[in-house]
This record gives sequence, C-alpha cells and structure tokens, in this order.
Amino acid sequence: MAILAFETSCDETSVAVVRDGRILANVVSSQIEVHAEYGGVVPELAARAHLQNLLPVARKAFNDANIRPEEIHAVAATRGPGLPGALMMGLQAAQAVAYMLRAPFLGIHHHEAHLYSPWTRGEPPSADFGAFEPNISLLVSGGHTMLVLVRSELDHRVLGSTLDDAAGECFDKVGKLMGLSYPAGPEIDRLAEHGNPEAIRLPRPLIAEANDDFSFSGLKTAVRYFLRDRPGFLDHEPDIRDLCASVQAAIVEVLVTKTIRAAKRSGVKCVTGSGGVICNRALRKALADACERQHFKLRLAERTLCTDNAGMIGLLAERKLLKNCEVTNLDSDILPSWPLQQVRMTA
Ligand code: KG4
Ligand code: ZN
Repeated sequence: MAILAFETSCDETSVAVVRDGRILANVVSSQIEVHAEYGGVVPELAARAHLQNLLPVARKAFNDANIRPEEIHAVAATRGPGLPGALMMGLQAAQAVAYMLRAPFLGIHHHEAHLYSPWTRGEPPSADFGAFEPNISLLVSGGHTMLVLVRSELDHRVLGSTLDDAAGECFDKVGKLMGLSYPAGPEIDRLAEHGNPEAIRLPRPLIAEANDDFSFSGLKTAVRYFLRDRPGFLDHEPDIRDLCASVQAAIVEVLVTKTIRAAKRSGVKCVTGSGGVICNRALRKALADACERQHFKLRLAERTLCTDNAGMIGLLAERKLLKNCEVTNLDSDILPSWPLQQVRMTA
C-alpha cells in the first residue's frame, strides 16, 4: 500500500510517500527565513509560503520515492491542530489529489502522528509497530508539551499538558530575549554544550506538583528579569553559554522528572519521546540516563521524525487503514483546535 501524505500545520511544508510501512520520501521545506525577522511564525505568511512550496515539495517527494501518482492507494493530511490558514493549504491539496486519484482520504491528528513516530527503525525509517508496548509518551515541541498514556495502538489518554508556554516555545522565547535567531532551540542546545548548567539558578515550574501538567512561562519571565537586572550580561560569550546551559537544565529536569513519575505511577515499562524538542541532546541523554536507572525501555523518535514532517502522517495513516479505521470525507474541514482526546479510536 502506498500513501501520499501532507503536513502543513505550522511553518514546515512537507510531503511524504510511505509504502508498506517504509518512508520512501519525506521532503520538508522549512520557512525559517520567512519568519526569522519577526521572531516567530506569522500565520498569514506561513499560509502563503505553503501555497508556494506545496507543488515543488510534492514533485520532489514523487521523484525521491520514484513512484507515479497512479501507484498511490490513499492520501492523508494533517487536519489539525495548527494554524487555520496553514492547515487549509495542505488539507485542500490532499483532498484534491485524493479526488483526482479516486483514493481514500484520511485527515490525521498532528499530535497523534507525533505520538507514534518513535515506533520506527532503520534508515529509511520503517514502521516497527510489531515492537509496540504500552508507554508513557512525552510529546514536546514548539506548540505542545504533553504526557500521554498510550495503552495500546491508537488508544491513548492525555495525562497532562502545558498550562501556558510549550517547552519549545520557552526555548524560542528565551532565545529571543537573548537575541538569538528563531527558532532558538537548536542554537541553545549548541551553546549550552560548553556552558555550566548550575551557573544560574532558575525555577523548575510545577516539578513537585502531583499532576502531569507543565508551565514554562515563569521560567521565561525569570530569564527576562535576570537579564533586566544585569545590563551587559550578554556581551560576554561564556555567560551566554552558562545562561543557555542553565535554561536548558531547568527545562530538561522538569520534563524528565515528570515523565518518569508518570511512568512509575502508570505501571508501564516503556517511555517514548517525540516532537521537535526531543532533538535536544541534553534531553535525550537525561531521558536515557533516567530510564536506565529506573529500568524503563526508552524509544525516542529519530531526529528526522522529531520536527514536523509528513512521514509521520503517512505512517499513522497507513496504520489506521490497516486497522480499518474510518476514512475522512473529502469535503471535511480543518480542525485547528482538535483535542487529542477526541480522536476516534480503532474501528
Ligand atoms: O515539532 P516541531 O517541528 O514543531 C511543532 O509542532 O511545534 O518543533 C519545533 C520546536 C521549536 O520550538 C524548536 O526550537 C524546538 O522544537 N527544537 C529544539 C531543538 N530542535 C528543535 N529545542 C531544543 N533543542 C533542540 N535541539
Ligand atoms: Zn509538531
């Protein structure tokens, strides 16, 4: 079975081809330059950039996969959550292609696709759902931070999520305060490598609370006040590195502590991680160390599948078709605020 998948929920235009559980092509065109000067994603510009990028990205996906349109059996697209104008571009393109090919169409929940992205192996990434086991999943990116109990395939329950900023958003906003370019997460990761994580004591919001929720806006505010009270602090490169390492350490400690606590409480034996922030090297290492100490198996999404991409959309769509999940109407609309809890379970 070959699936053509589209992802345009935010600022990445991506088209993928997945066949028999294997990602044959996963083309991602990032809009970083479009939004860089604004320090964040501008929804209107994101939608326009998707419109311009979709055709060349799709063409490259067909080339990379060495597949013809007639060989596509089904078409999938991210239906939500995300920026309305951005979602509309990918969804409409996918529905038009499905109509032309008379192929079934699946509208996929963006977070659900992230949740199952750790279940691949090899290069190119191929589905490894045979190894699936119940897990606590940490989903961390620019738009979302949540802990999810995944009881069985396609059966999940959100345990907690962020009350304000997402972890990636915190990286990005702190980076903006420091004058780093957007998105600042990867740059903070790099600068933190040679910094002292204990140099500056920053808050660990909600770390001791007996719930699975997160809050990162206070951490960002703490950095704002710290910099306000120390004019010229950012003139000194070693201080920048120390601040990056200290912010990163605070975020990582909260994420890891709450993930392990949820895993212990729920009785699962496996922890998974997905979303853009899972690219962070300190987070990957801290999760690996904690899981080893506490005897949890750990599966983290491959780096290419962490940030937004259509490969994860295609993999989940194929899985849903194999499990006879309902297909989506061709005239279905986008769902910009679709709660993960409302995704329909296995048919
Ligand atoms: O999953 P993603 O591509 O988009 C959303 O769905 O939000 O995640 C993007 C986020 C950005 O906030 C970016 O700064 C963060 O992931 N990110 C990182 C790293 N790489 C990406 N944060 C920290 N360390 C990284 N290495
Ligand atoms: Zn995402």
